[in-house]
Amino acid sequence: MRRVTTIAEVRAAVAAARADGQRVGLVPTMGALHEGHLALVREAAIHADVVVVSVFVNPTQFDRADDLAAYPRDLDGDEAQLAALGDLAPAIVFAPDTGEVYPREPLTTVTVAGLTERLCGASRPGHFDGVATVCTKLFSIVQPDLAVFGRKDFQQLQVIRRVVADLDLPVEVIGAPTIREPDGLAMSSRNRRLSTDDRASALALSRALRAGVAVRRRAAAGGHPIDPVRVREEVAGTLGAAPGVTVDYVEVLDPETLTPPDASSRGQAGDGPPEADQLLVAVAAHVGPVRLIDNVVLGDTEDEERLLAATS
Ligand code: PAF
Repeated sequence: MRRVTTIAEVRAAVAAARADGQRVGLVPTMGALHEGHLALVREAAIHADVVVVSVFVNPTQFDRADDLAAYPRDLDGDEAQLAALGDLAPAIVFAPDTGEVYPREPLTTVTVAGLTERLCGASRPGHFDGVATVCTKLFSIVQPDLAVFGRKDFQQLQVIRRVVADLDLPVEVIGAPTIREPDGLAMSSRNRRLSTDDRASALALSRALRAGVAVRRRAAAGGHPIDPVRVREEVAGTLGAAPGVTVDYVEVLDPETLTPPDASSRGQAGDGPPEADQLLVAVAAHVGPVRLIDNVVLGDTEDEERLLAATS
C-alpha cells in the first residue's frame, strides 16, 4: 500500500496498472474510516485488480464551516485500518491536500437537478454540487474503471449514477449495502462524535425504519399494496417520539426518481392506496452535535433483512 498526495503521482500509478492490463477501482472517502468503508474496499477488490482509496475532506460539500472543522481526520489511523485488510488492502491511498484538488477558485460546478431537490439536498443547500463536482474531479484524476459508493448515502449514490450517465463518464458505479452496528446504528464517521447518551438516542433512526418495514410486511400479509402515507406516519411517529432526537426529515419516495410515489402511474385510480414495488424510506435527524441519516428500500428483501437482522 502506497500513499500518494499529488494528481501526477496517482495518475502515474494508475497508468502503470492499466499498462499491465489491470482493472482499477476507486473508493472515494473523506477518511475517518470505519467498517462501512472497509466493506466498500472489499467490494472494490471483488471487481478490480488495483484499488485506489481516496481520502479527502472535500470543503465544497459542507454547508457549515463548523461541521467542516469538526469533521474527524486521522490519516495514519485510516491507513492502519486499510493495511489490516491484508491481501485486500488497496494498492494506493490518494490523500491530496485542498490546494492540490482546488488550486484556484473553481468556476465550474457539476449540478444535478431534480434528484437533489429533496432529502439532504433540501436540508444542506449546495451539498450535492460539492459532492458531484469532487466526484467528477476524482473520476477525471484517477480514471478508474469502477467506483464503489455506500447505499447509506442513497441520494448521493443516485446523484453520482446520474452524473456518470449524463456526462458519459466511463466509470461503472457500484452501490454497496449499508453496514450497521449489531444494534442497528448505521456506521458513519460522524458516530465518533456521539456521547454515550447520544449513541443510545441515535438508535431511533434504525428503529423507525424497522417500523416502516413492519407496516409494509403487514400490508403484504393482508394482500394490500404498500401505502406510502401509512409508512411515513409510522416512521415519523417512531422517530419523532424518540428522546434526544430532532427530526430533520422523514420521506417516502420512489428510489429511482427520489420523488413522491406517483399514484397515477403505480396505483389504480380511486381504488385504494398506490401500489409501489419499492419505496425508499429515508430519515435524517440531529442527535447531540451531529446530523445522522439512514434509509431502507421497502420491497428490497435483502435491504429489509439486513436492517431487521440488527436489534435494538
Ligand atoms: O461519501 C463521502 O464520504 C463523500 O461524500 C465523497 C463521496 C467521498 C465525496 O467527497
